[in-house]
Amino acid sequence: MRAVNLLERTKERGRCSMLEGFQSVALVAELPPGKSKAVMVNNREVALFNIDGKYYAIHNICPHEGGPLCEGRVKGFVVACPWHDLAFDVRNGRGTDGGGYCVGSYEVQVEGAEVFVGPRRKA
Ligand code: FES
Repeated sequence: MRAVNLLERTKERGRCSMLEGFQSVALVAELPPGKSKAVMVNNREVALFNIDGKYYAIHNICPHEGGPLCEGRVKGFVVACPWHDLAFDVRNGRGTDGGGYCVGSYEVQVEGAEVFVGPRRKA
């Protein structure tokens, strides 16, 4: 239930930035270092992480069986899926287990008090 409410709030926020293709997804104050949350960007569920004051965004749905990566344990730059522990680098979406799984990663910018997520990075 809580995740849905957060997603709904993000959809409402969803205004565009001066940066081409970037969408406002959160306030800086909502996501302090060590926290993560699910946001919606162009109808895609994205996991947004704050690691030591820098923001990273990857696709939120684990390619294994759909676990919510925003709810995973984070160690360094690696998030472990909460369902079966596949791990992904939040900087680029690459799987770190050597199994060939990966997820999309997205550009992130901060403007003033807001966090914006942009286009998916090229693999
Ligand atoms: S659903 Fe993520 S590891 Fe299985």
